[in-house]
Formats: sequence, structure tokens, C-alpha cells
Amino acid sequence: MQGIKIVTIGGGSSYTPELVEGFINRYHELPVRELWLVDIPEGKEKLHIVGALAKRMIEEAGLPIDVHLSLDRREALPGADFVTTQIRVGHLDARAKDETIPLKYGVIGQETNGPGGLFKGLRTIPVILDICKDVEELCPDAWLINFSNPAGMVTEAVLRYSNITKTVGLCNVPIGMRMGVAEMLEVDADRVHIDFAGLNHMVYGLEVYLDGKVITEEVLEKLTSGAELTMRNIVDLGWEKEFIKALKVLPCPYHRYYYQTSKMLEQETKEFEEQGMRAQVVQSLEKELFELYSDQDLTVKPAQLEERGGAYYSDAACSLINSIYNDKRDIQPVNVRNNGAIASIPSDSAVEVSCVITKDGPKPISVGDLPVPVRGLVQSIKSFERVAAEVAVTGDYNTALLAMTINPLVPSDTMAKEMLDELFEAHMEYLPQFKLSVV
Ligand code: G6P
Repeated sequence: MQGIKIVTIGGGSSYTPELVEGFINRYHELPVRELWLVDIPEGKEKLHIVGALAKRMIEEAGLPIDVHLSLDRREALPGADFVTTQIRVGHLDARAKDETIPLKYGVIGQETNGPGGLFKGLRTIPVILDICKDVEELCPDAWLINFSNPAGMVTEAVLRYSNITKTVGLCNVPIGMRMGVAEMLEVDADRVHIDFAGLNHMVYGLEVYLDGKVITEEVLEKLTSGAELTMRNIVDLGWEKEFIKALKVLPCPYHRYYYQTSKMLEQETKEFEEQGMRAQVVQSLEKELFELYSDQDLTVKPAQLEERGGAYYSDAACSLINSIYNDKRDIQPVNVRNNGAIASIPSDSAVEVSCVITKDGPKPISVGDLPVPVRGLVQSIKSFERVAAEVAVTGDYNTALLAMTINPLVPSDTMAKEMLDELFEAHMEYLPQFKLSVV
């Protein structure tokens, strides 16, 4: 590759300055020549604001990266080396419905692997699969790197329902955990290493190391003695000390929804009454961000972006692209085809696991199997993701109800059906695959 071409679909996202900053910081080893930011016509205004900021950031850095803005991905894709996807079908209004409708039934919506996540998946997967077809046709050698949520379900769908094999799903949770542990220990993050295994937003740190020495127990001890380890979008309600000691592995912030369901539900209900759901909080944060981005004097990524749950995506994304491009063979946690790395998860399913990143892509590091106490929950969420990915493609109502009912946050089939019907009604315009099946 002589000068890299990146195409970012959903380029008008408020997260884009993160990505641009990541490319600027790595330019010496990752020479990006063209950055195409692509969005849909509805997103034109945001695309132009973010695109102008991207151009100012690059100019300020004095780098020869050409930024192109486009409302037509087929114009952008030819010759791409890496295609990144960061889309939100239905925008934050749809997320608000994913979060609030389940709450009416006393269920946590959780927009990634909860009942809300099912609908986010049903809206997102068909669009991603269309993008896959274009990639296959127009830039068949490109790597497709997806950040769109629900990233686990989307990766599952791409692996099983498209012809794209060069694909990776990315999340900032593992990097957030590593940085959180480093902060806890007051050391630089590059001294901390974690062996990750599980699924997206359902990943565990099987072992934690400081300078190569295992420190898992110490970290778990700190975790239950007041040290925070969470993301901006998930409140830290503490953990029961004895539970974490017995668990023996480091949970991710999203595990709170599953191990602390009633407490988290109470918290979400309280937050909903006081300030609205996370979608609403993010809506006002986005407004603030776009006002900042519009300032012609702004030439760097504003610190306020770090208030978003997905902060530091760029480190994960750009490090991955860098390691593929330079065949670095370093270890990074990403979402890929399992290929037997985790014994009790199907080989053809997506898992989030530490991988060696080579020019031929991530090679998952085998963990044998997950410890028995965590294996069941991971398998449960995998079943949910698999069934959900299937129904996103087939549009079959009964299978949608199956996916909803087997989600561990959903307490009964009847409630699942009521929620499902209400969510279908709310999101119908974004679910064309269901039009014929639902009356
Ligand atoms: C996390 C997740 C992301 C998610 C984000 C939500 O960190 O890893 O997948 O998109 O938080 O953040 P937000 O600021 O949109 O609530």
C-alpha cells in the first residue's frame, strides 16, 4: 500500500474527531493519504461541520491527508484499504425508544445486548450487510472495521450472512478497562496487560498483569475497596466483595446489568425521572459538541468528547489499523470469528478476545475455555446475538420473539411479546425486512 485510503461510513458522527486525532498521531507509521467521510443525505449538515473540523485538525498538524466528504458511499469506496462503519440507524431518537420502552415494563433497555440492543441490531444489520455488498463489489481487498453497536451482533451477522471475511468488530470497553486498571494502580497504561475473553460488552479480564507479573487478585481487591472501573455511560454502584473474590476474573462495566439487574434498574428509573435516559443526555451532549465543532478556530479534538461512553475509540481503531498495516504482531482485544479460541462458543461465531494482530488480520489467542461460573452467561448472550442476527436477516416475527425472550434481562415470554410489539410499532420505518410479517 502506498499511502492509505480510509473510508468512514457515518463520518458525520460526533466521534469522528477522535478518529482523525488517532490518524494524526500515528501518521509517521500509518501514512493516511485519503480520508473519505461518508454520510446519508439527512446527515449532510453534521458531515460538513465534522468534515471542516477534520480538515482544520489536519492542516494544524501540517499533514498531507486529503479529506473528502461524500453522501454517496459507492463514490467513496473504490480503492479503499480500510472501511470503518460507525452508523446509528434512526439516530438518537431511536435509541431513546430502545431505552425507554423496556423501562415501562420494568426491564433495562440496554442498547447493545439488552432488549433495546435487539432492535438496534434489527435496524443496523441490514444496512451493514448492504455496505458489505458494496465493499465486496468496489473494494474487495479492504478491511471492514465496524464500531457500530451492537458491535457483537453486527460482527456475528457480517461473519455469517455476508461474503466479507476481512472484518473486525471494535469496542472501547477493553481499552477502557486497561486504562481504568492503570489509573487504579497509578501507573502508565502501557505497563498493564489484560488477557481478554468473552463477547462484546460481555468480556472478562481473565488475568491482569503489571510489567508481566500477574496482579489479578490485587486488582479485584481494589475493585471492591472503592476503586472505580467503569465507563461514562454506566454508573458504578460498587460490587459485593465476596462475589468478586469468588468470581476470580475482572468483569467489564456492562456486567453490572446482569449481576446487579435490580439495582441497575432502580438506578435507571431514577435517572430517567431526573434527567431522562442516556439517549437524552447524549442528545444534549451532542448539541454542545456540534456547537464546539462549528467554531472555525477549533483545530483539535475538544476534551468534552471524552464525556461520551465511547471515548478512546480512536486508540482502539487506529492501533488496530496500524498493526494490520505494519504487521506489528502485537496483542489487541477485538471481535473476530472464534475459530476455536473459546471452546464452548461455536467456531463460526464472533467473540471478543485478545488477538495477535498481523497483516492478515487478528489471530485469536486460544483460552481453552471460560471458567465455569462465567461460561453460562456468555453462552446465553451468544445465543441471543445469534438468534438476533438471524432474525435481522429473515425478518421472522416468531424468531424475533425468541430472541427477545431468551435475553437474560427479560423475565417472561408474555412480557417479551408485549415489549416486542411496542418496539416494532415504534421502529417500523427502520425495519423494512419485517413489513410483510407483522400485522
Ligand atoms: C461504551 C461502549 C460503546 C457505546 C458507548 C455509549 O463505552 O463501549 O459501545 O456506544 O459506551 O456511550 P454514550 O455516550 O453514547 O452513552
